Formats: sequence, C-alpha cells, structure tokens
Amino acid sequence: MKFSKNILCIGAGYVGGPTMTIIALKCPEYKVTVVDINEERIKRWNSDDLPIYEPGLLEAVRVARGRNLFFSTDIPEGIRAADIIFVSVNTPTKTFGHGAGMASDLQHWEKTAHQIVAYSGKPKLIVEKSTLPVRTAEAMERILSENKKNIHFEVVSNPEFLAEGSAVKDLLEPDRVLIGSQQTESGLKAAQVIVDIYAHWVPAGKIITTNLWSAELSKLVANAFLAQRISSINAISALCEKTDADVAEISFAVGSDARIGSRFMKASVGFGGSCFKKDILNLVYICRSYGLNEVADYWEKVITMNDYQQERFVKKIIKEMFNTIVGKKITLLGFAFKANTGDTRESPGIYVAKQLLEERAALVICDPQALENARKDLAGLDHGVTYELDPYRAVEKAQAIAVITEWEVFKKLDFEKVFSVMQKPAFIFDGRNILDHQRLFKIGFNVFPLGKPSLTHF
Ligand SMILES: NC(=O)c1ccc[n+]([C@@H]2O[C@H](COP(=O)([O-])OP(=O)(O)OC[C@H]3O[C@@H](n4cnc5c(N)ncnc54)[C@H](O)[C@@H]3O)[C@@H](O)[C@H]2O)c1
Repeated sequence: MKFSKNILCIGAGYVGGPTMTIIALKCPEYKVTVVDINEERIKRWNSDDLPIYEPGLLEAVRVARGRNLFFSTDIPEGIRAADIIFVSVNTPTKTFGHGAGMASDLQHWEKTAHQIVAYSGKPKLIVEKSTLPVRTAEAMERILSENKKNIHFEVVSNPEFLAEGSAVKDLLEPDRVLIGSQQTESGLKAAQVIVDIYAHWVPAGKIITTNLWSAELSKLVANAFLAQRISSINAISALCEKTDADVAEISFAVGSDARIGSRFMKASVGFGGSCFKKDILNLVYICRSYGLNEVADYWEKVITMNDYQQERFVKKIIKEMFNTIVGKKITLLGFAFKANTGDTRESPGIYVAKQLLEERAALVICDPQALENARKDLAGLDHGVTYELDPYRAVEKAQAIAVITEWEVFKKLDFEKVFSVMQKPAFIFDGRNILDHQRLFKIGFNVFPLGKPSLTHF
C-alpha cells in the first residue's frame, strides 16, 4: 500500500509507543514506524506481551500493527524514509557533572539529532515529543543545520500531556494538543502539518498553536502545577493529623470552589513517576541559571514537601508499631507509582520499602503489574523481601499493611478474610486513603489513614 506520509518516532517508551499507536490508529493513510535502540523493547512491541501496561493499549496495537504501525530497531532506514520524525527519547535528570541532580540529561536527545543528520537525504520535520528545557529547539536546530548536505530541518515542539495509567484515553480525548513553532513562514507551515495529524480525531478548538518556547515551557509548568497541588494538600494532611480535621473533608470543601476545582486534591504518600520530580528540578535549574533564585526556591519546595510526606509515612509506621519493626512482616499493597501502570520510576514505594528494610522489617510486596520492576528497583537490597501477586497470600501472618498504590483490586478485598489471616494486633496504614476506615476499625484493625484521625483499639 502507498502511504501519503512516513512518520518515524525515535524512542519506543511510555510516550512513543502509545502516542504512535493512536496516530496510526486514527490516520490509516500514514505509515508510522517506531524505532528504539532497545531490542528487547521492540521485540515486545511486536508481540502481545507489550513492554508497558496501559488499559486498552494492546487492543489498539493489534488493530494498527502490521497495517500502518511498525516497530523496528533499524534506526538508519527509519530516518532515511521519514518525512516527519518525532523524538521521544528519555530525558532523565543528570546524574553527573555540571547540573547533576537538577538539569536534564540531554545525551540521548543529542545523539538522535546527530543520527538524524547522518542518515537524512531530504528535508524533514522534526518534532520534539520528549519533555525538554525551554529553548532546546534552538540547540536542536543548530545541530541539524550544521549538516554539509544543505538539508533544511524544521523543528517544532509537541509536548505530550498523557498520564500513565490512562494513556490511551488521554490520547484519544486530550484536554488539548500543544504545537509550538517558529513564527516564520516555514515554521507555521510545519506546525500546520502536525495540526493536520491530530485534526483526524481532536476537535480544532483543542489544538493550541504557540511559539516554540511557550510550548516547551508549558510542559514543565503543567507538571510543576500538578505536583504543586499534590504537595499543597499533602502539607495540609500533616496539619490535619495534629488537629483532628479530616483532609478528605477539606479537599471536598475547598475543591468545591470552582476557582480551585476538585482534581489532584487527594492526600497521599506522595507523588512519583518519571516526570514530576525531574521536570520540577529542571525548571528549578533553568530558573537558577537565569539568576531567578526566589522563583527556583519556590518550586523546589514542592519536592521538599513530597520528600517530607514520604518520610512522615514511614516514621508513622515505625512509631505506631511500638517504635520497632525489626523482623515484623509488613505487606506493601502496591508498588507502582500510581494505579493502572506497572511503572515504578520514582515511586514512593521504593523509598518506603528501602526505609522499612533499613529498619529490618520483613517485607512482602504485592502489585498486580509492577512486581517485575519492583524486583529491579530493590535488586541487591531485597534480602528479606517476598514478591507476591495474590493479595490474600501476601497478607498471611503480616502484622501490618501499608497501602502504596490506589489499585481498585485493593479496595475490593475481603478485609474480614484479610484480618483473619494476619497477626494481631493488625495495623493498616492507608497511604492513599482508599479504604473504608470505619469498617476496617469495626473488623478489628488499628487504622492509620493520612490526614485523618487514627482509629485504634489501644
Ligand atoms: N512517561 C510519561 O508519562 C511521560 C509523559 C509525558 C512526557 N514524557 C516525556 O517523554 C519522554 C520519554 O519518556 P518515556 O517515559 O517514554 O521514556 P522511556 O524511558 O520509557 O522511553 C524512552 C525510549 O527511548 C529510547 N532511546 C534512548 N535513546 C535512543 C536513541 N538514541 N535512539 C533510539 N532510541 C533511544 C530508550 O531505549 C527508551 O526505550 C521524556 O522526555 C519524558 O519526560 C513522559
């Protein structure tokens, strides 16, 4: 079949894979190829055992794969054939050298820019899909324009706003699609090409076009605002525990104000995921590099508060279990950073597990999708850790349960049965406030919600 456009995506991760699947699904006249240096990942994209878990993703892949969606490790051929190249490689926090622990590590991104130059024989439209520091497109353009072949590359920014766990739904019904370009004739023309892709299924009013720098910076700012809301309500949860106020009642009362809104107002053990922390750190780093220290300090506190919330959770477990957990069996219900994903990057579960192990607890980790990643995260430290898929087996003879991830399956457990197989006194630390605390208390548990009065039988 002859396709009207060849789209390539470099990077077959949590963003590249689902995004390209939906583009292929909605635009059957385009050929969409996703390439990656990771052979194992590509092998899994070409199987029914996809490398990432997202509700509805496998069904969508099955429709488009082999029709107009292809996964490959042949990066040179992919670049040669492409008209449009989405770059969706990872941009983690730098761990070395200048800016370590704050700035974005752009080595993967820069490598792709050089590869694009090396293998291109015709003009191409380059789309920044990765989350990047503001003004990265300028550096990208500089690398691309220094080619001796006299090929013109136009760079546009199209940051991705999907949330893991609801990626397919977010891609099918986005709140908005953002496309930033240079405000030149060729820049605006390039932006229109990307608009035309999304216009296949996204209403015109939801496709926002801006200048290049606004698009790049909007992504960092969106994540900073989302994380800030979580840290704000988590800060209040600490005050609630001192005053017997109830953080859920406060969330409802405060969130009912239309100016504030009710979403992202749930107290929890803290935010995780590959993006929030890294993107805020990056924002902080950028602000400092422009000498905006007050602005940098302001946003950095969002992370400080998140660390504090995780620490508070662990300290509470130790304190309430009579100040020692040596040899005590504690079951973590959940390890993923949120429900409906197997992703554990920056999950509060990692911090909690490490601290509890340091206190010499015997841990059982139970998660419907994240055990494979949990094993990797705790490799070398997991003497005394059991990984268990079945929640009922996971809580057998446990003294405490700590809820880390808000999986539906945990809400629906038969807690009478759970109580009957646990050691007594039985403790529940609900790090997501997802359980019916009064009911658990009546069953016999000592219940420690977040930001609400504890319910104990002592
Ligand atoms: N995960 C999310 O929820 C999310 C949401 C929005 C935006 N983002 C941003 O999207 C970008 C990608 O994130 P992700 O979660 O998909 O990362 P990821 O680590 O899951 O995937 C990145 C992939 O790029 C591949 N890669 C790296 N260098 C390469 C190269 N030179 N050639 C080919 N492949 C290469 C890696 O092997 C990896 O498979 C990041 O900038 C991230 O901040 C992520």
